[in-house]
Amino acid sequence: MTDTILNTPIDLCGRTLPNRIVFQPMEGCDGTLKGAPDELTSRRYLRFACSGAGIIWFEATAVTAEGRANPRQLYINAETVGDFKELVGKIKITALEKCGFEPLVIVQLTHSGRFSKPNGTPEPIVAYRNELWEKGKENQPYTVADDAYLASVTQSYAAAAQLAMDAGFDGIDVKCCHGYLFNELLSAKKRSGIYGGSFENRTKLFFDCIDAVKKVLGDKLIVTTRLNACDCFPYPYGYGVDENNNIDLTEAEKIIAVLAEKGIELINITLGNPYLIPHINRPCVNSPEDGNIGLERIYNITKALKKRFPDIKIVSSGLTFPGENAVTYAEKLIDENVCDFAGFGRMTFAYPQFFSDYLEKGELDKNKVCLKCSKCTELMRSGTVTGCPIRDSEVYMPYYKKYVLDK
Ligand SMILES: Cc1cc2nc3c(=O)[nH]c(=O)nc-3n(C[C@H](O)[C@H](O)[C@H](O)COP(=O)(O)O)c2cc1C
Repeated sequence: MTDTILNTPIDLCGRTLPNRIVFQPMEGCDGTLKGAPDELTSRRYLRFACSGAGIIWFEATAVTAEGRANPRQLYINAETVGDFKELVGKIKITALEKCGFEPLVIVQLTHSGRFSKPNGTPEPIVAYRNELWEKGKENQPYTVADDAYLASVTQSYAAAAQLAMDAGFDGIDVKCCHGYLFNELLSAKKRSGIYGGSFENRTKLFFDCIDAVKKVLGDKLIVTTRLNACDCFPYPYGYGVDENNNIDLTEAEKIIAVLAEKGIELINITLGNPYLIPHINRPCVNSPEDGNIGLERIYNITKALKKRFPDIKIVSSGLTFPGENAVTYAEKLIDENVCDFAGFGRMTFAYPQFFSDYLEKGELDKNKVCLKCSKCTELMRSGTVTGCPIRDSEVYMPYYKKYVLDK
């Protein structure tokens, strides 16, 4: 077996995980209309279960019907919880049989806010009106979430957390990234009322939900968040950028300091926005900037936050870009204490066995690695299911032909 720092055990929230590999949340847009995992969802997670990853970070799962990002987005509720339970059980049994241990399965709970499309067309629920997004789309109906609606989201999170515990998940991610509701609130400087203006107001709903989820779970499950360190929009849009358009981590650090006080031990760091500036969130080919610049940005931000919060376990994002060298690159990050866990997104669609192959052979198969071509995103944006049409072509190329090429 290959000797790698990625395979060193790590203690997390009272448990010991055998390795540092995280399968990042990757939506397949393939749930049932009610929001339960369907055939392709199960196929994907059972492939992940055979991967040997220490953490499987289950994809964005809605806490309300109106906050779903697409009609096939997973949605945990009283009707679907049984199907989630069945799948989580299967993931754990499969991993135990194939890899000899049960991974941590953390579910990402979300409200899609501005990107809500519960019926297939945009039905944005926004924190505030924003010309960055709305230019040319002024006639589209926008619902500005009022304070009463936002307060009700706390109950939705608490209810979803209870259901997620019933379903057998090991942890809850209160999602605060990629422009979705809680992340958009972080930049609601001009919003009036209790959720806008000051730092305390802009973070109120997010922290209220963290508290509500913690109250439901007690110490039984891990509470965590996938957090945007900065939005990377030009000033004055978004959060985490100063007047000179330089990245400014002051508010991200304030948020993490509060989370640490609340006893949060694990944070998954990401940045940018997949709709407007996807190359920042996931460095890729055919991009406005060299992917290595994007990789360096993620490296520097993650390193700075880890240095500032050495006791918080940090997951790094965006590690697929180095392709056949992705694992070697991740080793460097762990070795340099940039992060504690190496998170892989697109690679998991293309090549779910990459880590066990690396352990066995000391290298990745270059014919299986992700090509960073963004076809998985094209599929998603075309409104159908997503996966890798190149490396998992038997299943996903027919969708790519029908919904992208032939359209
Ligand atoms: C098709 C697709 C679906 C994704 N779904 C989610 C999601 O559900 N939640 C989330 O936080 N990020 C999601 N992401 C972002 C990934 O988790 C990851 O941050 C991004 O792909 C960069 O990592 P990578 O370079 O390893 O791919 C998605 C990305 C893609 C391409």
